[in-house]
Amino acid sequence: MSERIRLSAVFVVAAVLAASAIALKQDKAQAPHGAPAVLSPANASTKKAEEQFKNIQVLKGIPADQLIPTMQFISASLGVECEFCHEPKAFDKDDKKPKQTARKMMEMMFAINKDNFEGHREVTCYSCHRGNAHPQAIPAVATEQAPASAGQPQHAHAEAAQTGTKENSGPAADQLLEKYIRALGGSAAIDKVTTRVLKGTIDFEGKSLPIDIYCKAPDERVSFTHMPEGDSVTAFNGHEGWLGMPGRPIREMHGSDLDGAAIDANLHLATQLKTMFTQMKVRGTEKIGDYEAYQVVGQREGKPPIHVYFDQQSGLLLRLIRYGDTALGLLPTEIDYSDYRDVSGVKVPYRWTLSRPGGRFTIQVSEMQQNVPVDDAKFVKPAPPEELAK
Ligand code: HEC
Ligand code: HEC
Repeated sequence: MSERIRLSAVFVVAAVLAASAIALKQDKAQAPHGAPAVLSPANASTKKAEEQFKNIQVLKGIPADQLIPTMQFISASLGVECEFCHEPKAFDKDDKKPKQTARKMMEMMFAINKDNFEGHREVTCYSCHRGNAHPQAIPAVATEQAPASAGQPQHAHAEAAQTGTKENSGPAADQLLEKYIRALGGSAAIDKVTTRVLKGTIDFEGKSLPIDIYCKAPDERVSFTHMPEGDSVTAFNGHEGWLGMPGRPIREMHGSDLDGAAIDANLHLATQLKTMFTQMKVRGTEKIGDYEAYQVVGQREGKPPIHVYFDQQSGLLLRLIRYGDTALGLLPTEIDYSDYRDVSGVKVPYRWTLSRPGGRFTIQVSEMQQNVPVDDAKFVKPAPPEELAK
C-alpha cells in the first residue's frame, strides 16, 4: 500500500513536471454528470476500487484507477493535503475524524443531487467548500467600493458541465474555428506538418530546467525534462502514455490522463477540433490577459467537454481547458498559449502555461524546427518495470 501511495505522489510530481494530465478515468456517456456507481461496459472489466484498496465503503464500484484522482478532487475542493484525512502510511485506517466526516459528506452530496437535480452532478464538494475545510455560511461585507461592472462569473470551471444557455450575438462556433485555422496559416499548411522538435525551458516552483520535446504526426509526443538526477519523461505514442522519473519504473497513464496526452500530442489539433466535437457552442466572451476572447464549449462523445478561447482580434487560440472526470467532480487542466511565431508557414505558440488545482508550469520555447526527421525509437515504450535509460 505505502508503495502505491509513494508512486502516486511521485506521479503527481512527474505530471506537474511534464505536461500530462492528472490520472483520471473518464466515465462514458454522461461523463460530466454521471453518478459514480454507474459503470459503463467499457469500465466493467477494469478493477474496482474496493478490489484494489482495503477500506472502501462509499466509493464502491468506481474504477480503481479513479480513486486517487477522486482524492485529488477532494483535496483541491477543500484546499487541504492528503494528511488532513490520512496518516501518511495508513491510508486505509479510519483514525482521523475528517475522513469519517468526508464519507458522510459524499453520501450527502449524492443525496442532494439525487433529490434535487435528477441525479445530475450539479453540487459537488467544491460548490460549498470553495477551497476551504470550513464553508462560509455568512455573506461577506464589502471591503471596498463596488466597481461599476460587478457580477462577472468568478470561475469558468463552475459551468463546465453545463451546455451553455447564454445568449450570444457574435460569430458562430464554426466561424471561430475557421478563423483560427486561417490565423495559423490554413488547414493545408497545418496538415503538412509531420514533425516538430522544440527546445526550451520549463519553469515551475521557482525552478527552471531545460526541456526537449519531440512530436510526430498524427499524435506522438515525448518530452524530456533534464533534471540534475536525470530525465523526467512524459510520452504518448498514439495509444499508450507513460511517465518516467529518474531511477523509477515508468508509470502508465489511464483514463482522462491519456485523453489529455492525446490532445497535447495532436499536431493537427486545430483542423481536427471540428470532428472531435459532437456539439459546439459559443459561450460569450472573457478577458484573458490583455485580450478579449470568445469562449467555445465543445462537447465530446463519452468524454468531458473541452473549452477553447479564441482571441477576438487575431483569432488565435489563447486558452484550452480540458477536464478529467472523477467519482465526485471534474478536475480542470487549463493551458494558456502565447508568443505565437511563424515556423515554416504555420503559427505555433512559443510559450504556454499549464495550470491545475495542484500546481502549474510554464514552457518557453527557444528553438523550434518542423518537418525534420524524428527517430521512431523515441516513442517506444520501455517495458515496465525496466528503469528508464537517460
Ligand atoms: C477530506 C478527507 C480526505 C482527503 C483530503 C483525502 N482523502 Fe483519501 N480517503 C478519504 C475517504 C473518506 C476514503 C474512503 C472512501 C470510501 O470509504 O469509499 C479515502 C480513501 C483513500 C484511499 C484508499 C485506502 C484503502 O486502502 O482503503 C487512498 C489510497 C486515499 N484515500 C488516498 C488519498 C490521497 C493520496 C489523498 C491526497 C491526494 C487523499 N486520499 C486525500 C478521505 C480523504
Ligand atoms: C452542501 C454543502 C456541502 C457539500 C456539498 C459538502 N460539504 Fe463538507 N462541509 C459542509 C459544512 C457546512 C461543513 C461544516 C463546516 C464547519 O465545521 O465549519 C462541512 C465539513 C466538512 C468536513 C469537516 C472539516 C473539518 O475540519 O473537520 C469535511 C472533511 C468535509 N466537509 C468534506 C467534504 C467532502 C469530501 C465533500 C464532497 C464529497 C463535501 N464536504 C461536500 C458543507 C458541505
